Amino acid sequence: MSYETYQKDYSNKFPAIEDLAIKAKSRIPHVAWEYLESGTGSEYLLQRNKEAFEAITFTPQFCKGHIEVDVSTQLFGQSYSCPIGIAPVGLTGLMWPKAEHYLAAAAKRYTIPFCLSTVATETPETIGPLVGNNGWFQLYPPKELDLTVSLLNRAKASGFHTLVVTADVPMASRRERTKRAGMTIPPKITPQLIWQGLTHPVWTYETLKHGLPRLRTVEQYTNTTDFKFVSGFVGNRLGGTLDWQYCQKLKALWDGPVVLKGVLHPDDAQRAIDIGLDGIWVSNHGGRQFNGAPASIEALPDIAAMVGNQVPIIFDSGIRTGLDIMRALYEGANFVMLGRPFLYGIAALGTYGADHVIHILKDDLKNNMVQLGITSIEELKSHK
Ligand code: FNR
Repeated sequence: MSYETYQKDYSNKFPAIEDLAIKAKSRIPHVAWEYLESGTGSEYLLQRNKEAFEAITFTPQFCKGHIEVDVSTQLFGQSYSCPIGIAPVGLTGLMWPKAEHYLAAAAKRYTIPFCLSTVATETPETIGPLVGNNGWFQLYPPKELDLTVSLLNRAKASGFHTLVVTADVPMASRRERTKRAGMTIPPKITPQLIWQGLTHPVWTYETLKHGLPRLRTVEQYTNTTDFKFVSGFVGNRLGGTLDWQYCQKLKALWDGPVVLKGVLHPDDAQRAIDIGLDGIWVSNHGGRQFNGAPASIEALPDIAAMVGNQVPIIFDSGIRTGLDIMRALYEGANFVMLGRPFLYGIAALGTYGADHVIHILKDDLKNNMVQLGITSIEELKSHK
């Protein structure tokens, strides 16, 4: 059965991302929900991401007759059906078993990018064929260059064509909320966790059927499935190594576009361009890394002014509606990505959850563009 079979039903029951979030929360154990939702520190930045979007308004003009909107766009020489993509999310299978499979398949059906995380719960070899020509690969750069080369070769051989290097994790952030929820590494089976499993039977059934979430890509380097060891590897050897020289090496190693993710300062954007990187990804990691940072949308205009037309700007953090997408494109982004909303979709609806997220966002984007009388992404970007 296809998504179209469910679309009308879904559209009435879940007209907004918010509806999917409510459903997702009821379907997944508390600890997984807290991992997905959490920010860092007091989580003020989560709120700020939201409020800064809401502060951007447009004054519409009317009487333009029938308006036909086309939201297709180009990025790095490739055509996408809309300027929306799926951001990398680690431990994806914790939120819903086989989530990466569903995300990749939806990306392929709708011709939008899906960026696989280094610490996803599936390997590039499994996901590459499912995502077709829409695969991006996100790198947390390993300390040892031979590991980097091996990871990049595997991603490339699996069909991923765009490399995303995450800059904004110089060390793991403090996520007080996930600690309070009882998330430990390795997971400890506590009465609290058993109760959460029992009270979320569909999640538990699917998890038992497909196997507990594992950091499969990283596992292959450590030759063990010992979660504690693998997590230690992530903490000790994938963090705190990135500098401009390393970025330059990655550019030389990767035959394809290289994007720097987590940029908030215009000088960093220019530095990345100067060393030959192909794209800037403005992000505050969905409020998960540094609670003192500005909202991504607040940082965007200065970066856009610095970057101009040198390279494309990708944007994320806090987008929940088509109107937010319109705001980000208007403020200077060429393309937007979303993290949590796609996981809400999958956790709420399973196989076609990501399809429904795309449908909501695309529909809302088009609807808001009609309010402004704008017919294309190019026109929106130059709208004044
Ligand atoms: C992330 N993000 C992330 N980024 C990255 O480069 N590598 C990763 O492995 C992860 N993992 C991850 C896990 C979870 C649970 C979340 C919510 C986020 C950040 C992600 O790519 C993106 O920047 C944010 O999710 C964007 O914010 P929204 O759309 O979630 O508000």
